Amino acid sequence: MISLRINGTERAVEDLDPETPLLWVLRDRLGLTGTKYACGMAQCGTCTVLLDGKESARACMLPVSAIGKREVTTIEGLSADGDHPLQRAWREHAVPQCGFCQAGQIMQAAALLSAKPRPSDADLDAWMSANLCRCGTYPRIRAAIHAAAADLAAEEAR
Ligand code: FES
Ligand code: FES
Repeated sequence: MISLRINGTERAVEDLDPETPLLWVLRDRLGLTGTKYACGMAQCGTCTVLLDGKESARACMLPVSAIGKREVTTIEGLSADGDHPLQRAWREHAVPQCGFCQAGQIMQAAALLSAKPRPSDADLDAWMSANLCRCGTYPRIRAAIHAAAADLAAEEAR
């Protein structure tokens, strides 16, 4: 049995090969299907989750044995009611088109704002460049991240 801390809850998973990628545990064993599968080769960012609330990781290539005691956050755990500043900004800017890549984009953006609370365009482009969107929503993603960063800064100033 392997125990993982996911979205604030300890989850025990039985009969699991420790080399199983986290993505399959999330989707197939725990029913957390917000994290999507696309390339399966850590190349597109669609499966991005957070480790310890700040480090982005590609769940499709991350064996559960490598997680240890670190907390995993998926899109389902980013906020209680979809009210994280990034999620609000995503709605306000109508970012998604087909939507498939968007959970990964939001989780990658959350890691960016942890590392750089007020990213420049150059920071943002460099950080987000590993997350692909076949619908080309990049300009709206950029606008939404800037809006969320401003929101977070305003919250902190209160
Ligand atoms: S599905 Fe994991 S990076 Fe593409
Ligand atoms: S919104 Fe369709 S792939 Fe990004």
